[in-house]
Amino acid sequence: MQTLYEKIGGEETIEKLIVAFYQYVLADPLMIPFFENTSMEKLRKMQKAFFSIALGGPEPDIPISLYEAHRGRGIEVRHLTRFTEHLMETLLEIGVEEEDAKKVYERIATFSNEVLGESSVDG
Ligand code: HEM
Repeated sequence: MQTLYEKIGGEETIEKLIVAFYQYVLADPLMIPFFENTSMEKLRKMQKAFFSIALGGPEPDIPISLYEAHRGRGIEVRHLTRFTEHLMETLLEIGVEEEDAKKVYERIATFSNEVLGESSVDG
């Protein structure tokens, strides 16, 4: 069976997605302060790995802990909501079909607890 990763166009689509997504995020005053001290090059690499794993693509040998990466940053539900809105917007903009975009969105939303620190399970 085709994975969601393959269905939306694999690595090429994920790369496009990550670049376009952070253009939205870094243009949003609500988001900017969170990323002031972040190496975007590293973050894009980590996000590429994460999306690949989350959508059923190849699993790069990179340790990712969503809980560790986000804890203590003061991320609230409203930030998470905006973040995922930008994700949806970007998916549609780069040409992912709406039905698939919703599936990606839902898949990513299952990691919300780790980002908000409501779970101590490593991601
Ligand atoms: C479900 C939603 C989210 C997912 C799936 C996600 C995913 C990730 C991933 C995979 C990383 C890299 C982790 C690592 O380096 O080990 C990361 C880092 C980061 N995330 Fe998120 N994230 C989400 C929501 C958010 C939100 C809402 C914010 C703030 C508004 C945020 C801010 C950051 C920052 C600042 C870093 C970089 C940390 C550093 O500098 O090392 N994330 N995120």
